Amino acid sequence: MNATIKLEKEKHYPVLLDEILSIITPHYSGTLIDCTFGLGGYSKKILKIPSSKVIAIDRDKEVRKFSENLEKKYKDKFKFYNIKFSQIDTLNLYNEEIKYIIFDLGYSYNQIKDPKKGLSFHSKGKLNMKMGFNSFSANDVIKNLEKEELEKIFRVFGEEKDSIRIANNIIKVRKKKDIDTEELVKIIENCKKKIYTKTHKATKIFQALRIFVNQEVSELIYGLINATKLLKPGGMLLVITFHSLEDKIVKFFFKNFSEQKSVSRYLPKDKEKKLLFKIYNKKSITPSIEEIHKNPPSRSAKLRCAIKKEDTNNFELEFLNKFQKLIDIENLGKKL
Ligand SMILES: C[S@@+](CC[C@H](N)C(=O)[O-])C[C@H]1O[C@@H](n2cnc3c(N)ncnc32)[C@H](O)[C@@H]1O
Repeated sequence: MNATIKLEKEKHYPVLLDEILSIITPHYSGTLIDCTFGLGGYSKKILKIPSSKVIAIDRDKEVRKFSENLEKKYKDKFKFYNIKFSQIDTLNLYNEEIKYIIFDLGYSYNQIKDPKKGLSFHSKGKLNMKMGFNSFSANDVIKNLEKEELEKIFRVFGEEKDSIRIANNIIKVRKKKDIDTEELVKIIENCKKKIYTKTHKATKIFQALRIFVNQEVSELIYGLINATKLLKPGGMLLVITFHSLEDKIVKFFFKNFSEQKSVSRYLPKDKEKKLLFKIYNKKSITPSIEEIHKNPPSRSAKLRCAIKKEDTNNFELEFLNKFQKLIDIENLGKKL
């Protein structure tokens, strides 16, 4: 009995699927881009809507196999591309009317558990974390970056309190031997106080390395910018985030470009700034208790949606400037 329950939980569940369907189904029209195809949980359901058309993207070449059946079954309605979502602007969209663009950030259960990818601190052997189209691995980072650079990555991308101590110890150990996954976990554990914590002591450092190796901040920022440009007014962006850094970026993007700021009420209406978005849900949508019970990792998911109002100039520069410090940290990877 217990084993069955455990097995049921140990698979990938599409997060907030009912909520997404209830937003897009009632007035569905046009083509939807699923920027994070994964196991196709969203695409499969959306393709069942009679008038739907789906273009799916994923950076992981191993997920193509999950798209093959759909490509056969829905020849005229579905197409898969193995690219990063920051490159969404390179898709040949001919005259597609792009009405919805969805991002379900992070990785699926299968990817996290895949020992070759090495995303988890339970993996063994050489550090990796490359998810597709990467120029360096976690091993290159741990082996080559300076102490101060490692410390910054751990502190900013992992919000790790012991970042200095951990970076110091990595430098000491790497002078004597190669640091593989198990060795890195050992270093982190040795730097931490021997108190009980709910999450594994290595969680934050592994998150930070994964973000850095996959350039997740730049991916998200350029993904949002390029997706917004593809939408016509009336089109919708739907984004599911799983940690505070991602949510901060999405929240700023939608809020900042949907508000009139410091415009005098005495100015004529036509002098008001054009607005890029209208926010669909002021408060983020989160999974129900039932969903969290069935799929515990969904507990940190937040869905934010915005409707494009009109094309505006220079939103890109303002958005990039706001998060330039984070992009600069990811750019440290250019020397690897
Ligand atoms: C959480 S899973 C999506 C699961 C999917 N919604 C489903 O229901 O099956 C996220 C997927 O996005 C992909 N991904 C993450 N970052 C990406 C990026 N920058 N470009 C393209 N795909 C990305 C991952 O490889 C993974 O397959």
